[in-house]
Amino acid sequence: MPALIPPPLSLYVHLPWCVRKCPYCDFNSHQAKGELPFDAYIDALVRDLDQDLPLVWGRVVHSVFFGGGTPSLFPAEAIDRFLQQASARLRFAPNAEVTLETNPGTTEHGRFDGYRAAGVNRLSFGIQTFNDDALKRLGRIHDSAEAERAVKMAQDAGFDNFNIDLMYALPGQTLAAAEHDLERAFALQPAHLSHYQLTLEPNTVFFARPPQGIPDEDSAWDMQEHCQALLAQAGFDQYEVSAYARPGRQSAHNLNYWRFGDYLGIGAGAHGKISSGAEQNVRRRWKLKHPQAYMDAAGSPASFGGDDIIAADRLPFEYMLNLLRLHEGFSLRDFQSRTGLPAAAIDVPLQQALQRGWLERVGGGHDHGHGCDDHGCAGADGHDHGGLLRPTELGRRFTNDVVELFLGE
Ligand SMILES: C[S@@+](CC[C@H](N)C(=O)[O-])C[C@H]1O[C@@H](n2cnc3c(N)ncnc32)[C@H](O)[C@@H]1O
Ligand code: SF4
Repeated sequence: MPALIPPPLSLYVHLPWCVRKCPYCDFNSHQAKGELPFDAYIDALVRDLDQDLPLVWGRVVHSVFFGGGTPSLFPAEAIDRFLQQASARLRFAPNAEVTLETNPGTTEHGRFDGYRAAGVNRLSFGIQTFNDDALKRLGRIHDSAEAERAVKMAQDAGFDNFNIDLMYALPGQTLAAAEHDLERAFALQPAHLSHYQLTLEPNTVFFARPPQGIPDEDSAWDMQEHCQALLAQAGFDQYEVSAYARPGRQSAHNLNYWRFGDYLGIGAGAHGKISSGAEQNVRRRWKLKHPQAYMDAAGSPASFGGDDIIAADRLPFEYMLNLLRLHEGFSLRDFQSRTGLPAAAIDVPLQQALQRGWLERVGGGHDHGHGCDDHGCAGADGHDHGGLLRPTELGRRFTNDVVELFLGE
């Protein structure tokens, strides 16, 4: 049997409050009422981290992501205190990427200097669109001028590594308007751009009462294709379904998720995924979603929303759900080391995906569809073991169908 080898480790920290809940958003975010308990929440995060530490003894953390909710509601002192406590407990790689999500309606002068001094070296701005009417319809708390001001403040504080989140296929949006949003974003010189199609998520206001004028699937696809071309022209390489980066500026944190890497999930509703070399299994642990319930229980097992070992027959699906989002593809060797399964476990769906033209082989003429370890050739016949499998353009259009092949019976 191939051995499961623990992959790189990241740390996700969830900060669950927002000024106002956006009508399209199904993230674990709660409208702030009155003063937020910043200190008590940071204390809870530290207790939570202490409890999860035995899962990752001795391992190096390669990235940290403060996500939300709206992490930029937290003062720099709170972020600083958490990072200090975390670095007293975990070993961080010297060049670890530390990202903080920012809503441009919450930023104030001086705060970015504080985040930088605390060790944050990457920001992600939720801008969504530069069209002020559209921002209102999306229930955003900022206009486009505020968004631009927030980015400039961050640049003045020395942040050049930042992402801008944009959404497209907005109610009433034309192709020209979606393209114009990109031009406005490019002018701010982001290192990274996330370009999401607006989706109507269950349990949101938009789902219950869909806004008028949402572009149909064909128009949305058209927008995506035109925007992809504009992004490419502007020097942004698409490396995932919705993620585009300048050379060398991919999000290390998100890449680790998509490569089926490991992550601790700390905070209300946070999800973690941790592989154990000793136990040869992959665990998912997640925390209570409600901020007060989470704070009350943090540090004890009562704070778990769940804590499960992923069943072996589910691992191929979970692996593909992540890997097939990436344009770079995967190798059978990585599949084996990250799931602990033999490559033969995915022989059948892999052949189907190749035959349907959803996946292609690159960088190797190795065409027997299963791992060399399983048929004992160990490379003796000289065929290429470094080959990758990656989604074709067709496969990228039908990602859900491709991933479903790996669900098993
Ligand atoms: C947790 S939020 C980010 C940061 C911050 N809370 C903000 O909104 O400014 C992550 C991003 O997910 C995207 N998003 C949220 N809900 C979405 C939806 N229903 N469809 C598409 N994208 C969505 C938005 O672009 C948003 O910026
Ligand atoms: S600010 Fe961000 S996390 Fe909060 S409700 Fe809006 S989209 Fe969701």
